[in-house]
Amino acid sequence: MTMSDVASPSSTTVTGAIRSRRSAKRLLDTPVDQAAIERLLEAATWAPNHHMTEPWRFWVIRGEARGRFGLAMAAGDLNTHRDATPEQRETMRTSAIGKAHRAPVIIAVAAVMADANRNPDVEEISATAAAIQNMLLQAEADGLGTIWRTGRSAYEPEMAEFFGLTERDRILGFIYVGHPDPTAPLRDGQRQPVSDKTTWLDD
Ligand SMILES: Cc1cc2nc3c(=O)[nH]c(=O)nc-3n(C[C@H](O)[C@H](O)[C@H](O)COP(=O)(O)O)c2cc1C
Repeated sequence: MTMSDVASPSSTTVTGAIRSRRSAKRLLDTPVDQAAIERLLEAATWAPNHHMTEPWRFWVIRGEARGRFGLAMAAGDLNTHRDATPEQRETMRTSAIGKAHRAPVIIAVAAVMADANRNPDVEEISATAAAIQNMLLQAEADGLGTIWRTGRSAYEPEMAEFFGLTERDRILGFIYVGHPDPTAPLRDGQRQPVSDKTTWLDD
C-alpha cells in the first residue's frame, strides 16, 4: 500500500486536509518511510516566524528510543506523584513505556527561546505551534495518521532534561505518527460555529 492509496483525494488540497484531519488515537505499529518523516519536518520548517529565529526543534523518536522516552515521561509523572508507593511507581513506569509505544514514530517538538530583545517568548511558541500544524496537515495529505499529545509530564523538568532544554524553552507536544488503523472508528470533527468566536469590526 502506498501513501497515495491511503490519502483521500480531498485531503490532498489544503482545505481538504484541514477538514479531514482528525487526531488518530489508534495507529498501526508498521514503520513509516524515512522520506515521509522528512517531508513532515520539511513542512514544519516553512511555518512563519518573526525575525527568522526558526525556534522549532524536533526529535524523531523511534524503535528502542521510545522506551527511553517512556521512562522520561514516567519520571515527569512521578514528579507529580511524590507520595506514590513503590508498586504505584512501577505501574506508572510500565504505563508510560506502553504509552510511548502507541506509534512507530513520535516527533517531540520544542520552542527554543530567542534572546529577549528579538522576539517575546509567545512569538516563538506561536511559530512552533504553526510548524506543528504544518506537520499535521502534511501527514494528512500523505495519508498518515497523527495525534498531538502532551500530558503533564511534558512540562516537568525531567522531560526538559531528556531533550537538553533550558528552563525557558518550551516543549509544545509529542506528535505521534503512523499509518492509520483501518479498523479504528472514524471520528466526526466537532467545532462551535466560527460566528460564536468572531467579532467583525468594520467601522
Ligand atoms: C496542545 C495540544 C495538546 C494535546 N494533548 C493531547 C493529549 O495529551 N492527549 C490526547 O488524546 N489528545 C491531545 N490533543 C489532541 C486534542 O484532544 C484534539 O486535537 C481535539 O480533541 C480535537 O480533535 P481533532 O484533532 O480530531 O480535531 C492535544 C492537542 C493540542 C493542540
